Amino acid sequence: MTKTSVNLAAVNTDDAALAQRVRDLLRIVIVGHVDHGKSTLVGRLFHDTGSLPEGKYEAIQAMCERRGMPFEWAFLMDAMQAERDQGITIDTSQIWFKTDQRDYTIIDAPGHKEFLKNMITGAAQSDAALLIIDAAEGVREQSRRHGYLLHLMGIRQVAVAVNKMDMVDYEQEQFNLIEEEYRDYLTSIGVTPTFVIPVSAREGDNIAEQSTNMAWYKGPTVVKALDSFLPSAPTVDQALRFPIQDVYKFDTRRIIAGRLEAGSLNVGDTLVFSPSNKRAKVASIEGWSSKGEFENPQTAQAGESIGVTLDEQIFVERGDMASHVEEAPIETDVFRARLFWLGKEPLTVGKTYKIKLNTFEARVQVQEIERIIDTTDLSATDAGQVERNQVAEIVLRSKRMLALDSFVDSPRTGRFVLIDGYDISGGGIISMEGYADQRDLITQKSTNITKVEHGITLDARAVRNGHKGGVLWLTGLSGAGKSTLAVELEKRLFEKGMNAFVLDGDNVRHGLNANLGFSPEDRAENIRRVGEVSALFAQSGAIAITSFISPYRSDRDRAREAAGEHFHEVYVAADLETCEERDPKGLYKKARTGEIKEFTGVSAPYEAPDAPQLTVDTSTCDIEDCVQQLVDYVEAKFGV
Ligand code: ADX
Repeated sequence: MTKTSVNLAAVNTDDAALAQRVRDLLRIVIVGHVDHGKSTLVGRLFHDTGSLPEGKYEAIQAMCERRGMPFEWAFLMDAMQAERDQGITIDTSQIWFKTDQRDYTIIDAPGHKEFLKNMITGAAQSDAALLIIDAAEGVREQSRRHGYLLHLMGIRQVAVAVNKMDMVDYEQEQFNLIEEEYRDYLTSIGVTPTFVIPVSAREGDNIAEQSTNMAWYKGPTVVKALDSFLPSAPTVDQALRFPIQDVYKFDTRRIIAGRLEAGSLNVGDTLVFSPSNKRAKVASIEGWSSKGEFENPQTAQAGESIGVTLDEQIFVERGDMASHVEEAPIETDVFRARLFWLGKEPLTVGKTYKIKLNTFEARVQVQEIERIIDTTDLSATDAGQVERNQVAEIVLRSKRMLALDSFVDSPRTGRFVLIDGYDISGGGIISMEGYADQRDLITQKSTNITKVEHGITLDARAVRNGHKGGVLWLTGLSGAGKSTLAVELEKRLFEKGMNAFVLDGDNVRHGLNANLGFSPEDRAENIRRVGEVSALFAQSGAIAITSFISPYRSDRDRAREAAGEHFHEVYVAADLETCEERDPKGLYKKARTGEIKEFTGVSAPYEAPDAPQLTVDTSTCDIEDCVQQLVDYVEAKFGV
C-alpha cells in the first residue's frame, strides 16, 4: 500500500487549478446550430468582454478588407480555432473569456457523438449551458434536440439566447412566441431555463451591453445571465466519498485503503460503509509523506490515496463506499441511466451485465429502454435495443442494494461502467429522477427490542375464521379500478362470512400516512407502512385487501417479504389511455397541465409487476366479471 500523493495539484488538476486561481471559473457549454449564429455569438462574447488577444480583431478586419469581403464574427472564431488546431495557443481544449466577475471556459462540442462520449466518460463537465436559437426560424426540431442534450447531461443552469433579433425587426411579439414555445418544451423534458434573452450577436444587442433596440426587454444581458450562475463546488468541498479498494492486514491492524474521490476525512470522524451500513470511527490515517516517510496525518482530502484504521473491528470489504453519516450515498436497487453504448452486441431488455460503480461490482438487469438517441442527428426513437454508438435512457435493476450518487449531485461518483463478459461495453451517468433513496426504508433505528410470541397459532385462527389470513395486494395506475374492485370484493367476502378489510390509499393518507406526499421517498414509505400493517392484519387471521398504486417493484417486494407466503399480488391492469379517459377524479387533466407534479404514469414511473399471482384487466372486462375473478381466487387460495 502506498500513499500515491499528498500533492493535490498532481492528482486533481481541475480542482487544484480552481483552488489556485483567485478568480472564479465557470465551465459553460454553448449549444446551437452553426446557422443560428453560434460562432458569431462566441466571437461577440470575446470581443465585447475585452477577452480577445491583442490585435486579433484588427487583423481579421484587415484580412476581410484585403479580400474584399464583409467582416464576420465567425471568421474570428475560425481563425482562433485554426490556431488551436495547430497547437499555437497553449490550451487545445478550452477557450477562455473573462467578465468583470470571473473567467469562463467554453467546453468545446466538436460533434454530438464525441461530445456525448466525453460527457459520459467525464472528459467534459460543465456548470451551465447557453442554448442558441434563431429568432427568424423559431423552435424547429433542431432546437428541440439541442435542448434535449441538456436534459441528457442533467445541466440545471440554462440560459437561452434567441438570436438574430435584428432579422425580425427586434419585435417583441416574435420573441414572446418563441420564448413561450421553447420554455414549454424545455419544461416538459425537465429543463428549466433561468433566462430567455433576445439578442443579436452580429449587432451586439444584449450580449455584454443592454440593447437600445429592444427597450421592451427588461432582463439581463447574456454576460449578466452567465455571471449569475454558480460554479460547482470544488471536489474537496463536496460530501466525502471514499470507495474501498482493499483491506490489508498489517501486524494486528486492518488497514482500509482507497482513494478519496470527494470531500475530506479527519481522525475521529464516524464513517458509514454502504451498502452494508456498518459504522465505525477513524482511529488513524496511515500514509507516506511526499518525502517517502511513513506518517500519520490527522486529515486527508479528495485526490489522495490513503489507508485508515478503525476503532472497531467491523467487516468492511472492497467495493464498500465510506462516507460521513449525514451525507451518505443513495441506496437503491433500481435507477435511471443515461448510457453511451460501445458494445459489439446491442443492449437489450432483460439482459444482465456486470456494473462497476467505483470499486463496487454487481450484476444488473436492463429493466427498460425508455428512449434511444442517435448521436449523429440527436433524433430519438423507441427501438427495443441500443446499438453501438447510441445513447439511451434506460432503467437498471439489481438484486442487491447499490450505494450510488446521482450525477448532478456528484459527477465523480455518479457514473458507472457496464461490462459484458470481459469487455467494457458502455458507460453512463446516474439519474434518480422518479426513484427513491431506499436507505431509510432498510435502516433499523430502534435498539434493545425483543419480539413477543403470540400464544395463538395461525392455524388456530384460520380454523376459527373458516379461512386463512393473508394480503391481497392490488396494484395499478390511478383510475385502473383498484378501489372499486377492493370495496366490491370486501362486500362479497363479508357476505360469505369472511373477515376482510380494505386498506385504501386515499383513506390511509388521511390518517396513518397523512404526513406523506408523493415524492418517490414518501411513496416508498407509504407502501412500507401499509406492507407492515397488512402483514399484521394477515397475522390476525384477516384478509387485508390493499388498494394502492404502489408504483415501485422494490416496495411491493418488501411488502411481500413482510407478509411471507400469505401475500398475493394482483395487477389491476388498465392502460394509461383508458385510465386517462376515465379520469374519475380529474387528476390526469391536472397532471397534464402541470398543476399536479410527479403524477404516476404521466410524470412519475409505474413499474408493472412482472409475475403477479393474478391479473384482472378492467379495460377489457367489466367490474362484475373482474370481482368474480377475485372472489374465485380468494376461495381457491384462502380456504382452510
Ligand atoms: S402511492 O403511489 O403512494 O401508492 P396511493 O395509492 O397511496 O399512491 O395514492 C394514490 C391516490 O392519491 C390517487 O388515486 C390519487 O387520488 C391521489 N394522488 C394525488 N396526487 C397524486 C400523484 N402525484 N400521483 C398519483 N396519485 C396521486
